[in-house]
Amino acid sequence: MHELEVTFLGIESSCDDTAAAVVRHVPGQMPSILSSVVMGQTELHEAFGGVVPEIAARAHAEKLDIAVERALRNAGLTLAALDGVAVTAGPGLIGGVLAGVMLAKGIAAGTGLPLVGVNHLAAHALTPGLSDGLEPPYLCLLVSGGHCQFLLVHGAEAFTRVGGTIDDAPGEAFDKTARILGLGQPGGPAIEAEAKAGDPNRFALPRPLLDRPDCTMSFSGLKTAVLRARDQAIAAAGGLRRADRADLAASFQRAVRDVLSEKTRLALRLYRDRLGDSPSLAVAGGVAANAEIRAALTEVAAESGARFVAPPLSLCTDNAAMVAWAGIERFRQGGQDGLDLGARPRWPLDRSQPALLGSGRKGAKA
Ligand code: KG4
Ligand code: ZN
Repeated sequence: MHELEVTFLGIESSCDDTAAAVVRHVPGQMPSILSSVVMGQTELHEAFGGVVPEIAARAHAEKLDIAVERALRNAGLTLAALDGVAVTAGPGLIGGVLAGVMLAKGIAAGTGLPLVGVNHLAAHALTPGLSDGLEPPYLCLLVSGGHCQFLLVHGAEAFTRVGGTIDDAPGEAFDKTARILGLGQPGGPAIEAEAKAGDPNRFALPRPLLDRPDCTMSFSGLKTAVLRARDQAIAAAGGLRRADRADLAASFQRAVRDVLSEKTRLALRLYRDRLGDSPSLAVAGGVAANAEIRAALTEVAAESGARFVAPPLSLCTDNAAMVAWAGIERFRQGGQDGLDLGARPRWPLDRSQPALLGSGRKGAKA
């Protein structure tokens, strides 16, 4: 069904980025991103050391229609040229998700366009199809500020979670570690920049759970170890010297890299038979923007004889093009929602797995 060209508006507001995008797909061709607008909120949350849900929700409500207007203008289209509206309906910070869902419903009600609710994690996990035309099955390592999981992607709505973190997500660990080191937010890019001048072998930080024969990971002990090492360095020098900070950042990044690459190596081995004759590994989510982590995963894939797909940085961090694309994929399979579409703070991708407990800094963990 729906074998013709389709053009979708995507809307994203589940965390701290207000985003709208227009994506067009002609069957048999690569999808094209006609526009992608991302309006960040970093400065609004700066003073609080983390995303404040109420502030985020208000900012989304103020900016969403501007983002949509801009996305349509940049694409050179009006609402009349669209075939559907896709919106992140969860998981995420509920006020923000609600703001996006309400706007999408308003557009659908006003125009009669089909409305398609999208799972934010599915949108990240399907991004390799948008950026590189990668088709399932593939193994996806989804690493962001709120999430960390290995997914076997079988189709647009079929995912098996085969492991993940039991506490912090890596992006959360990057952000907390940046705070410990007095660096700015978001912590990922700040640590990556600082680490360039540092020695990654100076501090012996833990690589938790590498002795376990499954894809379970843990990152919260790592930032505690950084805190302890920082305090020792301060006590020894009477303050945190620039070189110590750079070495701590580099050692932390190396530890995260080692855990992610070792567990990816294991996942490729454990699930090889479910990945078909020519296995593929994809990475998605904000932490996938990290060059050292991308390089390590490139190596792991090459060793395992797998194709490696890492979307461009702008499609790794939160954006609405991935939402439009996931909406198109769902729509093509007959998926569509009514005006009773709900906003969900939690929404695990793999319904056969119990939801993880705990709530990350950037919202509930799915
Ligand atoms: O996917 P994303 O934009 O939002 C969520 O859905 O969480 O991911 C944001 C996370 C933040 O924690 C940020 O620090 C991290 O991705 N991040 C990075 C880098 N760029 C962003 N982590 C490590 N290295 C980077 N270069
Ligand atoms: Zn995300």
